[in-house]
Amino acid sequence: MCGIVGYIGTKSALPILVKGLRRLEYRGYDSAGIAVLNQQSEKNSETTIERVRAVGKIDNLAEKLKTMTLNSTMGIAHTRWATHGGVTEENAHPHTDCSGDIIVVHNGIIENYRELRSGFLKDHTLRSKTDTEILAHLIEVHYQGDLRLAVQKALQHVRGTYGLVVMHKNEPRKLVAARLGSPLVVGVGDKEYYVASDTSPMLAYTQQVIFLDDGEIAEITDHGLQIFNLEDQEIIKAAEHIDWNEDQAEKGGYSHFMLKEIIDQPTVIKDALRGRLVEDEGTAHLGGLNMTEAQMHSVNRIILIACGTASYAALVGKYAFERLAGIPTDVEVASEFRYRDPIIDRQTLVFGVSQSGETADTIAALREAKRKGAYVRGIVNVVGSTIARETDGGTYIHAGPELAVASTKAYTNMVAVLLMYALQFGRTRRVTVATGQRVVAALREVSEKMEKILRQGDYIKMLAEKYQHYKNFFFLGRGINYPVALEGSLKLKEITYIHSEAYPGGEMKHGPIALLSPDFPVFAILTKNQLYDKMRSNIEEIRARQAPVILIATEGDEQAKELADDVIFVPPTMELLEPLINTLPLQLFAYHMAVLLGRDVDRPRNLAKSVTVE
Ligand code: AGP
Repeated sequence: MCGIVGYIGTKSALPILVKGLRRLEYRGYDSAGIAVLNQQSEKNSETTIERVRAVGKIDNLAEKLKTMTLNSTMGIAHTRWATHGGVTEENAHPHTDCSGDIIVVHNGIIENYRELRSGFLKDHTLRSKTDTEILAHLIEVHYQGDLRLAVQKALQHVRGTYGLVVMHKNEPRKLVAARLGSPLVVGVGDKEYYVASDTSPMLAYTQQVIFLDDGEIAEITDHGLQIFNLEDQEIIKAAEHIDWNEDQAEKGGYSHFMLKEIIDQPTVIKDALRGRLVEDEGTAHLGGLNMTEAQMHSVNRIILIACGTASYAALVGKYAFERLAGIPTDVEVASEFRYRDPIIDRQTLVFGVSQSGETADTIAALREAKRKGAYVRGIVNVVGSTIARETDGGTYIHAGPELAVASTKAYTNMVAVLLMYALQFGRTRRVTVATGQRVVAALREVSEKMEKILRQGDYIKMLAEKYQHYKNFFFLGRGINYPVALEGSLKLKEITYIHSEAYPGGEMKHGPIALLSPDFPVFAILTKNQLYDKMRSNIEEIRARQAPVILIATEGDEQAKELADDVIFVPPTMELLEPLINTLPLQLFAYHMAVLLGRDVDRPRNLAKSVTVE
């Protein structure tokens, strides 16, 4: 996820900005840039904007800066994690308007940038492929000597999310910062201000901070800070004292990246859905598919290739493609697929599903599929990764950088994207507008339902305390919840090192039930769907063997309490969307168990975040 740092005060800006960027490195980035208003010398008071950008590590940027004399006490800087446009110096922030007098850094996504580019701003000279550059040009259109007012007006054209900081050459002692959906914090020092996407770049200098809220614009000068809303009314906010250290600040105050990423899910799922759902038509539109309608109609088989958690997200996709689109769909673990002789033809559509886009087995399997003539597309998180580059189209899941080795938010966003693809294909085949509209509406409600589950964090922690001494666990689910059981079990294994098995509920009596005893707790997903009664019978069989039962059940299901030792209630949703909800308690349970057992939650033993070797 991109990072922003800004400074205005009495100290030399450059070291503060570079150090601030380094503090933001944890967020992940692929390029970095800096801009300062440079006062030539005491005698020559002319102000110029100096901008330096570099692809790759901040060291590359720092190396370029060594050769320059940038004499300034204010500036802005940015680490970019590509979302629109490749990883190039031209696409790195800060971006300018036509004149080069306005310079902006931005986090977030401007959804309507294409329309603005070819419409309202068609006469402007755009130099990058980014959505951000649009902002500089919109501000240019509205600038009449007051930067804050110009930003306010410019933002009225914009659909999407932003956290941005802007400077103008003609107002050399002013920073303007604005937020909608992408965090920004102002640090208040002694005759100086910091602004950043989180508190980590400023904590070495001040612990007095003001968190901007959505729809707020801050005007920051040497003389003070004023905050306004988009209607130009002033908002009075007092600075608050935070006593996080820099490490805590990186994690947004959470003790681990994994917990932060679990908590991020209600937000990032909106990023996956943003601009892709079409209410009126009851469908989704994932432009990156790059297939004509005729090609879409010709597809008679889908193969989803992935590893680990991504393969469990893919399994949800299989149920969705088959139910909504009626297209036979298989999930293939990449390491197996690449060494089989898979039957693929020109009517087969293959999706590679991967957070990193760099998993060696998935890359090799996709190359094999391509060689055999299939349509090959990617569902990937990391922009510009190998899978993103080597496939002929596809979709970014927009989960933002995932830093904990155990995948959480990437899983839910993969599921969201797969559901949207299934809907898009379904609408060209057998799904009616009305059904499509119900899916769209249900997808829109997921974020709020996730919040509801996260509010039960303390209860789930208490369950982890109760069950922390067990050495074995079962995870059971049926239908769309079987992948949820697989994912819950993998999470527990990965970060607690506790043995766990996942099975479809109906399979227990074919062998695994022999393992059951009072020492073998079973986590079962019993939500109100078409397999409720079947799953209920499976749970009765387990109870008869005295195994402790923890249920994930639908709110209001009183019978669930009688069946289980403990119940986690979840809000109801459409059956196909249940994995987006039901997986969250399992992530939290694994997380709290790992913390209680003293495990290295974010970096579990023997595992790598990105498995780039076979
Ligand atoms: C998930 O918690 C794992 N660490 C792992 O299974 C992961 O999902 C797998 O290695 C695939 O990675 P990818 O999504 O980057 O391709």
